[in-house]
Amino acid sequence: MSVTAVVGLQWGDEAKGKIVDMLSPGVEIVARFNGGDNAGHTVVNSYGTFKVRLTPNGFSSPGTLCVIGPGVVVNLTTLIGEIDQIQQSGIDLSGRLWISPRCHLVMPYHPLLESIYEQVKGLSRTGTTKRGMGPVFADKVSYNGIRFFDLSDNTLFSGKLRLQLSIKNPIFEAFGLQPLDYDQVYQEIMQLYAQVKDCVREPFGVVQEALRRDGSILLEGAQGALLDNNWGTYPYCTASITLAGGASAGLGIAPRLITQVVGVAKAYTTRVGAGPMPTELSDSTGETIQKAGLEYGTVTGRPRRCGWLDAELVRFTSQINGVTELALTKLDVLDGLETIKICVGYHRAQTGDRLWHYWELDAHRLEECRPVYIEMPGWLKPTVAVRSFAGLPPQAQAYVRKVEELVEAPVRYVSVGPQREATIPIG
Ligand code: IMP
Repeated sequence: MSVTAVVGLQWGDEAKGKIVDMLSPGVEIVARFNGGDNAGHTVVNSYGTFKVRLTPNGFSSPGTLCVIGPGVVVNLTTLIGEIDQIQQSGIDLSGRLWISPRCHLVMPYHPLLESIYEQVKGLSRTGTTKRGMGPVFADKVSYNGIRFFDLSDNTLFSGKLRLQLSIKNPIFEAFGLQPLDYDQVYQEIMQLYAQVKDCVREPFGVVQEALRRDGSILLEGAQGALLDNNWGTYPYCTASITLAGGASAGLGIAPRLITQVVGVAKAYTTRVGAGPMPTELSDSTGETIQKAGLEYGTVTGRPRRCGWLDAELVRFTSQINGVTELALTKLDVLDGLETIKICVGYHRAQTGDRLWHYWELDAHRLEECRPVYIEMPGWLKPTVAVRSFAGLPPQAQAYVRKVEELVEAPVRYVSVGPQREATIPIG
């Protein structure tokens, strides 16, 4: 039996979609277990380029069942747009997408509430993707959420919607926004629901059945460990659990059944939104990485902050995820750099300080830290066409081995370009 989780080890955007897409052929089930349409997974394959936010990345493999587990929150408009795009590209999704009726819905009031929070916070705002994640998860844990289950019962949904609008509308009015109209929201949601209704069926049984038959399941994490609500750089994080452990609760699969955890990290670091990032480069090297890596957010289009690889962070996130192997992506982005730095810990005081670990610090203290670097020679050669580890320049191989040593996990894949073939297996 193989149950593999693919998770991000940084602040999201590690190119997990590509790794999932590479691992998905022949897999029985690919499942999302966390987040919502704040995720943006770019997949390039023979059908074209897809930027999916909710649909699990097994959609291009005809025999694969795509499952959205209860840990995911669903924005119906986004989901329907994706299903249309996928079907139009010639991929048949019918009967292959199952959405748990336990999934909570992102309602029109969630992004509005979030915009109020962000606006009032001013400079201390999180810099969210504006998809309403904080408010929808807050409603979920405070027993105010609306789930697919509710939509299948008009009276239940109607009562819950009225109640929520009676709580939310006074807030909108207090902040000078128009209250939401009950009839309009009701009609809109029901009309959208009618389009996906057939996909809403609890996947628990089919997942258990696959486990019994020793079937293969791929668990597709969204965001990255440093955005995790418990262990990320709170409050500059996301609202859900982004760790491999989250797959257990977010899909309904026993923890001991997850046999393999592929941790995906970029060969450098990026971050969108606010919050500490010790290795951020605000100089021309940062710009070079941003340009070479086309570092712009999939969901928001915002330029991503870029910097050196932070091995202190990736070691921590590998440990917390129980990573069995690493996928180091976008190595080619470093092709043009003469010297490459890797962060191995932090100093807090100006002199005579010990090395601090990420897990000892909160976001505020991390902001004040200075990264401690080691330096490695660059390779100054293009690697985009390389298709084997031995074909990489010796300095690039040494860089990969150093990452392995510092992170204390084996690098199993290195990627040097967006295509499926550009991901090189090692060993
Ligand atoms: P939210 O998830 O939209 O609430 O945003 C909270 C923080 O997580 C912000 O810093 C976002 O930029 C970041 N974030 C959320 N989803 C992703 C993602 O898929 N990739 C990268 N950053 C993300």
